[in-house]
Amino acid sequence: MNDNEKLIELILELKKQRNAVILVHNYQRPEMFRIADYIGDSLGLSVAAAKTDADVILFCGVKFMAETAKVLSPHKTVLLPNLDAGCSLADMADVKKLKEIKEKYPDAAVVSYVNTTADVKAISDICCTSANAVEVVNSLPNKKIIFLPDRNLGRYVQQHTDKEIILWDGYCFVHDKLDAQTLMDFKQRYPDAKVIAHPECKDELLKLSDYICGTGGMAKFAKSDGSKNFIVVTECGMTDKLRQDVPEKNFLSFCNICPYMKSTTLPLVARSLVTNTNEITLPEKIIRDARKAIDRMLEISKNAA
Ligand code: 13P
Ligand code: SF4
Repeated sequence: MNDNEKLIELILELKKQRNAVILVHNYQRPEMFRIADYIGDSLGLSVAAAKTDADVILFCGVKFMAETAKVLSPHKTVLLPNLDAGCSLADMADVKKLKEIKEKYPDAAVVSYVNTTADVKAISDICCTSANAVEVVNSLPNKKIIFLPDRNLGRYVQQHTDKEIILWDGYCFVHDKLDAQTLMDFKQRYPDAKVIAHPECKDELLKLSDYICGTGGMAKFAKSDGSKNFIVVTECGMTDKLRQDVPEKNFLSFCNICPYMKSTTLPLVARSLVTNTNEITLPEKIIRDARKAIDRMLEISKNAA
């Protein structure tokens, strides 16, 4: 038995001892899928965190996801094995700047992408994920929407709504640096492949794509579409996941690696289950207020995840 196999066995045993669930995002290292109780996108992971009756939720993802789990299950122990698992996009939105923009547009509703810190969510009207952003925005009575922090997802939403979207100038460095010219060259090499892209990519790249969706929609599309070959434009881990989920099709990566997503490893998960590193805690008021914004989103997406 190699080291990974031994660690997986140990983690599965620790999980039973602690009555823990392990929630794993689609971008994680492939070995993390082996220890998962649930694998999915940000929306599916939030739903799983809200539903579980385990005592401990261990998150193999990034910090804003673990915070969301804590908001939804405040009496449970929520663990993030590596505190370095941040998110460059979540770091681009802060409470001070959001308060200033809210004052400037008092009639606008604030829609925060889940890739935000809990204190930003706490002063937002509603959250959204890549899976439901258009649906969330269109559900609101307000004509103006302050959308943060991702300018690319915000622009994509603007193309699917009559509302006025006030964009925040944030971006995910993993998706935003993927380049349209290189994708065009890639498409020329594989002319029969369909392009599936995440809406955090730049607009010129989305225009070259056949299907735009969050990580949760990619396998569904690949399964139902008649094509055999797909170019997957997002974080590189998604291709590993698609190859597992849809083995009968071919997936070509046009991707960058998210170092935050890859910073969680099997040894860190095992340590976390033994020593409780790193337990996520949040002030009660932040939990209460952020919960309203997350619950509103979950209510709208009830049947989606
Ligand atoms: P999904 O909600 O589509 O899984 O996206 C999360 C994320 O961090 C994308 O970069
Ligand atoms: Fe954040 Fe981008 Fe990494 Fe997703 S891929 S977790 S948005 S830095």
